[in-house]
Amino acid sequence: MNPASVPSSPIPVLSEDKVPLVTGEEPIRHIFIKAGCVVCHEIPGIPEAKGRVGPPLVLGHTGEQRLRDPAYHGRARTVHEYVIESVLEPDLFVVAGYPSRTMPAWYGSKLSALALEKIAHYLEQQTGDAG
Ligand code: HEC
Repeated sequence: MNPASVPSSPIPVLSEDKVPLVTGEEPIRHIFIKAGCVVCHEIPGIPEAKGRVGPPLVLGHTGEQRLRDPAYHGRARTVHEYVIESVLEPDLFVVAGYPSRTMPAWYGSKLSALALEKIAHYLEQQTGDAG
């Protein structure tokens, strides 16, 4: 038995058919849980969000840096737009140090416009300071 031959899968797989439609009427915490963001991300103020696959979602702190990054070629002009773009087209810009093609690319069919607005509104305010 060679233990190295046992496949290990450290990256959680979130399958599209397990994620329900998110209308945006839910409280913000439930939006993040229902959509499965908590599996891969740490999100201030959301106790369930302890994932380490993607970066901590502190866009109030990191958002402007992303927009100024020479490697960023997206269309967003504000942090709010950047959050929505990152959710709908995760591989448009891959945060350095994190895996590409890992965040689901199908959120456009699961999240209503209202849910996206609430997600962006919440995340653009998170700085990660003092919780
Ligand atoms: C299966 C893991 C996974 C899930 C589920 C997931 N993400 Fe991600 N996410 C990632 C990874 C990995 C990255 C970094 C690579 C990249 O930029 O695409 C990322 C990047 C991001 C970014 C850019 C962060 C930054 O600092 O610039 C945002 C915003 C984001 N995710 C939001 C979300 C939201 C909101 C949800 C739920 C609707 C979600 N993610 C679900 C893995 C995931």
